[in-house]
Amino acid sequence: MKLMDVLNGGGPKIWPPPVWLMRQAGRYLPEYREVRAQAGDFLRLCMKPELAAEVTLQPIRRYGFDAAILFSDILILPWALGQDLRFAEGEGPVLPPMTSRAELAALSLERGVAGTAPILETVRRVRAGLPAETALIGFAGGPFTVACYMLDGKGGGEFPRTRMLAYEDPALVEGVIELLVEGTIAYLQGQIEAGADCVMLFESWAGILPAKQFRKLVIEPNRRIVAALRAKTPGLKVIGFPRLSGLLVGEYVRGTGVDAVGLDTVTDPQAAIAACPPGTVFQGNLDPLLLRVGGQALAQGVADVLNGFRGHGHIFNLGHGITPDVKPETVSELMDLITASSP
Ligand code: CP3
Repeated sequence: MKLMDVLNGGGPKIWPPPVWLMRQAGRYLPEYREVRAQAGDFLRLCMKPELAAEVTLQPIRRYGFDAAILFSDILILPWALGQDLRFAEGEGPVLPPMTSRAELAALSLERGVAGTAPILETVRRVRAGLPAETALIGFAGGPFTVACYMLDGKGGGEFPRTRMLAYEDPALVEGVIELLVEGTIAYLQGQIEAGADCVMLFESWAGILPAKQFRKLVIEPNRRIVAALRAKTPGLKVIGFPRLSGLLVGEYVRGTGVDAVGLDTVTDPQAAIAACPPGTVFQGNLDPLLLRVGGQALAQGVADVLNGFRGHGHIFNLGHGITPDVKPETVSELMDLITASSP
């Protein structure tokens, strides 16, 4: 598996780098929209292993990516723990914002573990259906990012309630994160046992905190998850995605012990390389917008990303998820550009 070879340190000698795309299974693919319509809504699709496995495999069949990522969502865990969740069409996730310790106490780790069983069944089915050379990435949300949705009740990127609460009622925020750390360890351990080859932590909203809170609410919980998983699976490879963490990216990698770091679109490859310890593998970070633009701008963007990480362990990806308005043909164009690039 090329992706695992890079995570195991063979990166600098491997050309072209392995490639997969965040949100590679999704609405830009007609075959996804078909299965999604069949399932009814998004949550139901996630909870039906046969259909979730099918949409996980669709982009692998179409493009031959080096890795599949489990089709699920970071909010499945809080939902399984007992918080209501719905995905409103065109609006994203909606949860009843948590306000008190009593609401936190009503969530149950045991229920969470039982509730994620269908996701683990999806992992088993995907692994069985994937070519031997294709890696399967399991994932969970980073505890802080998931807590943002649990406490604010919706996305939007600002999460004012969560950030206020981190000052006004830190015990509540830390309590939510504590539960999520334990839940995430059990959930990812389940995915590893079900056949995930490596795991990724999506800490998509890491970048909204001041440095001191970033250390406490992002680095420390991520570190605990990595350490607990490695204690059971020595040598386990973990990819962290501390989106928009800017100058703190090196501290994140050192502090958490992740093997690879996903970089957002705005991060300059050379700056990230300088900030991270030697041997860090970088994943990213083409501007997803270029998949809507295509043509010469896409070719230049791909060359810039490939050149930016040349000589380092690199997994080609986008800086954030692919959007529904991308034409499937443009992703083929991207794959051709990567394949044709010279070492
Ligand atoms: O990357 C993949 O292909 C794997 C599946 C995956 C999804 N969500 C599927 C999904 C993964 C890894 C995620 C992670 C996720 N989910 C994150 C972290 C990554 C990031 O984007 O920053 C976050 C913040 C979420 C929460 C979430 N889920 C939001 C904000 C939304 C709405 C946005 C949208 O595109 O509609 C979702 C829904 C969602 N998750 C969809 C998919 C394919 C769209 C569902 C649909 O309507 O079909």
